[in-house]
Amino acid sequence: MEKLKGLILSGGAGTRLRPITHTSAKQLVPVANKPVLFYGIEALVEAGVTEVGIVIAPETGDEIREAVGDGSALGASITYIPQAEPLGLAHAVLTAEEFLGEDPFVMYLGDNLLRDGITGLVEAFRRNEPDALILLTQVLEPEHYGVAELDGERIVRLVEKPADPPSDLALVGVYMFKPVVFEAARSIEPSARGELEITDTIQKLIDTGHTVEQHRVKGWWKDTGQLADMLEANRLVLEDIEPRVDGEAIDCKIEGRVVIEEGATLERCTVRGPAVIGAGSRLVDSYIGPYSAIAPGCEVIGSEVEHSILLAGASVSHLPSRMEASLLGRNVRILRAEGLPKTLRMLVGDRSEITLA
Ligand code: G1P
Repeated sequence: MEKLKGLILSGGAGTRLRPITHTSAKQLVPVANKPVLFYGIEALVEAGVTEVGIVIAPETGDEIREAVGDGSALGASITYIPQAEPLGLAHAVLTAEEFLGEDPFVMYLGDNLLRDGITGLVEAFRRNEPDALILLTQVLEPEHYGVAELDGERIVRLVEKPADPPSDLALVGVYMFKPVVFEAARSIEPSARGELEITDTIQKLIDTGHTVEQHRVKGWWKDTGQLADMLEANRLVLEDIEPRVDGEAIDCKIEGRVVIEEGATLERCTVRGPAVIGAGSRLVDSYIGPYSAIAPGCEVIGSEVEHSILLAGASVSHLPSRMEASLLGRNVRILRAEGLPKTLRMLVGDRSEITLA
């Protein structure tokens, strides 16, 4: 098979991750202190796919361009493809037609994370040369995904977010296609949610006698579209980190898999890994529990933080109880003031959520 190109879809409004996505692209929310999107680019590069197009939306495109640049730092060569409106994954494919040309390609949804990458799958695609290759995995709530109905190993039917799922096998957001996909994408109608669905496009390929091969995901897979999944992805990635202390830890207890980046300073803290603490962060008299990712430039003073993600510049101080399962946006400040009256005083952005227990 000729050269393969990569296509990463990085548009989408990210409504389920508001308010973080009011000001930032969902694909740039960090997992273990690295934007989700970077894992996808790295997975493509590792599979030998370095010529990559990224489909961007008007609202978040500039931020994505700024974060990824020309891709050389990640070993890729990036072309940006603006999609004026979010009209569906198949519409994104059509938008990228000029970039993709006659080359077969791997399409990767920018908020998806696969533990074991895609190298084996790309090899299978090159070897077997089907018209399309899809990835399936068992999920608990198939109604939230594209779902496959199989007869043995053969795909009978693919349906997008069915109210009554025919199986628990979800379509993972990584697909491989030959250029025949353009014709199929052009021949389908928008779905009930008004989008040209990639699921319907693949169904079209099946209906018109093209070969569609399915594989199962081996390691874990996460679509990081909402808070619980984001925290879970963070937990899963942190499980595999290599411990390293490049920052400064004075009178601290560091246990388990912990990364402390250069320029971070910790005083009288207990850090129980897996956890990562970003460059230039300052932690004093605090406890950082398992599955925490503290971005660069954060401050944690006299507080306990566990199973949480803090974005750059966030700061918490003197919290009255342990903070957990939380995602704090950039430069968010949560603090406890001295003195009376003992009230809650808040300046909270649109669609924020605070749980007090
Ligand atoms: C999209 C696809 C769906 C797939 C999912 C995987 O859904 O339409 O078939 O299962 O990605 O992440 P969306 O995230 O656009 O709702």
